Amino acid sequence: MKIDIMTLFPEMCEAFLNTSVIGRALKSGAVDIKCHQIRDFAYDKHKRVDDTPYGGGKGMVMLAEPIYKCFEHICDERSCRPHLIYMSPKGRVFNQEIAKEINHNFENIAVLCGHYEGVDERVIEEIVDEQISIGDYVLTGGELPALVLVDAVSRLVPGVLSDSVCFEEESHYNGLLEHPQYTKPSIWHGKEVPEVLLSGHHAKIEEWKVQKSLETTEKTRPDLIK
Ligand SMILES: C[S@@+](CC[C@H](N)C(=O)[O-])C[C@H]1O[C@@H](n2cnc3c(N)ncnc32)[C@H](O)[C@@H]1O
Repeated sequence: MKIDIMTLFPEMCEAFLNTSVIGRALKSGAVDIKCHQIRDFAYDKHKRVDDTPYGGGKGMVMLAEPIYKCFEHICDERSCRPHLIYMSPKGRVFNQEIAKEINHNFENIAVLCGHYEGVDERVIEEIVDEQISIGDYVLTGGELPALVLVDAVSRLVPGVLSDSVCFEEESHYNGLLEHPQYTKPSIWHGKEVPEVLLSGHHAKIEEWKVQKSLETTEKTRPDLIK
């Protein structure tokens, strides 16, 4: 999968993307993620990317044209028009189903990060395909939301994790929460790992995992069971 992030703070995104699982996936070529500085597409000598809102109000609004030009550049560079997602608290709320849907439907996506008061509505109308929120709260910028989306989508791409079982058995993939996990030592602070997990009896272990998954979901997210 190829992903282009449009931001005023590429260094913020790059620090995350070059680390851990996604960092390794980038190096191996399993995913191809580029960050683009929107300011590089500003058209005046001061490299201005925002201005005061029409109608008054506090804060600044990101200009339409540098965003438009940045997206044009991405389309040229990729020789295609990526599906463009604007991270916004006004969008549909992101979840594992949407991550699967993006991974399944698109080979190329671009993600626009707003900042300040957001972006000029006209550029949303002109080029944005959909708006996605990461929850009902407001952050200072779209960089963290973009990274949340990119991380959740990338780990579904073949080759990013060692095996698809890694994500297929995790919380939310099939609508339930995962069973508890344990590692060594088998006794810690007097607490023992459930005996069945040490038994080597695969069928019983699977049965225990399903049972615990149901119990955990019922306890903390009964809405998922419904
Ligand atoms: C301070 S917010 C702007 C909020 C906007 N004025 C409003 O009231 O809807 C700045 C940027 O952060 C990003 N952002 C903030 N909260 C977000 C959320 N919950 N999900 C996705 N993006 C978010 C968006 O890109 C947004 O343009």
